[in-house]
Amino acid sequence: MRKIQLSVLFILLSVITIARDWENYFPEKQLITTGVYYYPEHWDSTQWDRDLKNIAAMGFEFTHFAEFAWAQLEPEEGKYDFEWLDKAVSIAAKYKLKVIMCTSTCTPPVWLSRKHPEILSMNENGQRMDHGSRQHASFSSSYYRSYSLKMIEQLARHYGNDLRIIGWQVDNEPRTFFDYNQDAQQRFRDWLKKKYQTIEALNVTWGTLFWSNTYSDFSQINIPLHSQWGMNLNQRLDHNRFTASETATFLDDQAAEIKKQISANQWVTTNYIPNYDGGYIGKSQQLDFITYTRYMVFGSSMGIGRKGYRLGDPLSIAMANDFFRPKSPLYGVMELQPGQVNWGSINPQPAPGAVRMWLWHQFAGGSSLVCTYRYRAPLVGYEQYHYGIVGPDGVTPTPGGLEYQKFMQEIDLLRKEYLQTATIPPAYLARKTAILFNNENIWGMDMNKQTNQWNSMGHIIKYYKPLKAFGAPVDFIDDQTDFSKYPVIIAPAYQQIDKELIRKMTNYAEAGGNLVLTCRTGHKDREGHLWEAKFAAPIYDLIGAEIEFYDLPMPHAQDSVLMGSKKYAWKTWGEILKPNQGTSVWGTFQGDFYAGKPAVITRKLGKGSVTYVGIDSNDGLLERDILKKLYAQLEISVDNLPEGVTVEYRNGFGIAVNYSDRNYNLDIPVDARILVGSKVVSTAGVTVWKLK
Ligand code: GAL
Repeated sequence: MRKIQLSVLFILLSVITIARDWENYFPEKQLITTGVYYYPEHWDSTQWDRDLKNIAAMGFEFTHFAEFAWAQLEPEEGKYDFEWLDKAVSIAAKYKLKVIMCTSTCTPPVWLSRKHPEILSMNENGQRMDHGSRQHASFSSSYYRSYSLKMIEQLARHYGNDLRIIGWQVDNEPRTFFDYNQDAQQRFRDWLKKKYQTIEALNVTWGTLFWSNTYSDFSQINIPLHSQWGMNLNQRLDHNRFTASETATFLDDQAAEIKKQISANQWVTTNYIPNYDGGYIGKSQQLDFITYTRYMVFGSSMGIGRKGYRLGDPLSIAMANDFFRPKSPLYGVMELQPGQVNWGSINPQPAPGAVRMWLWHQFAGGSSLVCTYRYRAPLVGYEQYHYGIVGPDGVTPTPGGLEYQKFMQEIDLLRKEYLQTATIPPAYLARKTAILFNNENIWGMDMNKQTNQWNSMGHIIKYYKPLKAFGAPVDFIDDQTDFSKYPVIIAPAYQQIDKELIRKMTNYAEAGGNLVLTCRTGHKDREGHLWEAKFAAPIYDLIGAEIEFYDLPMPHAQDSVLMGSKKYAWKTWGEILKPNQGTSVWGTFQGDFYAGKPAVITRKLGKGSVTYVGIDSNDGLLERDILKKLYAQLEISVDNLPEGVTVEYRNGFGIAVNYSDRNYNLDIPVDARILVGSKVVSTAGVTVWKLK
């Protein structure tokens, strides 16, 4: 007993001593620190000194090692070789480059795959992955997990107290994929057993009376075949949850292993892809903060105008910033494209200036760290033709490399201008808006769309896009967040809800908050069941209306909603509303058998308001105009930035970037001092000014 108490005390003490000191790691006056990936194992060791010297000379402050080097770190089971890495770390230190150390788990060595082929992931068709690429091992494999932790333990012992190492990145771009590996099957059953305790409880939640789905034992349950028609929706929902949890716990296991060995001088992070509905981002408890990776030009985003594909989607970095920032005490960007990539459908050159503009854009969102993949362009391997900071000769900076250099020089200038007392314009802060987001809604709606015209993320973006045009700071929040910080909260298509959240929303509005709820909200409970009541009945008191029915027209016969004197086309989801007394109608349906009935309504509730938008428009203009009307009514002043122009503020600086195909004349206060760029922000241009 006493032993248990002592160990609890020890754990508590170690948690306390390891409390991270953010100001120490990322001093505010440093603003941001910039680094670059270097893979010493890819190059002749006689070139390391030259390369790291050149990296430092360009202005980079840190590098990033050993991301894919498991085979070099543990060439044979249990035989570790850190000598080469020690040498690289000491050369980096010679040039004052700090190091992020990586766990290299996404590239298990061949000896492991051959000794335990069970570690390899399996797809829905029963095909096993094989050695030869990366990310082919199953996060559910007990062998893969235990071998990973053994290797990490050695690595962390070796570098955990080394002051040249600033922190750790676990894995690489951890993600979820549906894995049918044997261990995954077993762990899914165990996970279900833990969740439901009894098979009867599972049967109730999964609605297995339907179609004779009933189970009598957990051992009968398999991972659902998601592509099999009609597969049980709850089985699929739970499997999504399980998969997200496998990713989150694998990262936690790694981070916890590292934390056993390291001093409080080092932090632990990972580099997520902004996979918004993955469900695992921000769910690992052991990471000190999170970072994301971002690629902008790879043949899919068309951007704005004919050549916009060379700049990418203007919302891409914006949204990643606004999604990651609220989830973490601070955040960074671990990979930002330095030039052409090799893996897109078409891999064009980014526009001159685009790389620097992306760098400024992620800075504008508040990030503390930015890094790029990679320093040297690879000569061999799958990523041939991928650009680096220098080209294939290993020494000549690429255009993107020079843009990184320019960014770092400009950041140096800003550091000199930084004032601790600097403030942010009150008008900007006053329009701070939250988007309430839960990946479970996306899973739920995407499994059960009702119309193939529906696009869950597209619906959210119809609200996000105008907010950025308003120049509003936006946070993606979850239902645990303190709502009171936000004058306006939008919950787009928040399908799965519970009474507690409805109460929290009601309290928020009564206390003066302004809530915007949109179609599909509240149709189901958290397990995705419809209520035994009228559609979405639990939200009726909140929205001050009933939902009579919903309609999903055929796209060739689309109709419109009239708001003011303007008509807005729609063809996806429309809810025909029946407002209570005291609820005003902003928009009505046109053109069909329910013409004249309300589609958009608003009401006062206590000191605040609730607006309900029962419709999803084709192009987002209705959503934009509803928000305009609401902010005007609330007397919140908004900007009217053209598409592609973003303006944000941090640390006493204003930052404008321009993804559009024309110049933008910046409207800034007369006493603002421009430090970078000019009042006219050209395509791919950046302007930074200092606030008085
Ligand atoms: C990223 C990945 C990097 C590298 C890069 C190439 O998604 O994290 O390791 O493969 O793509 O663009």
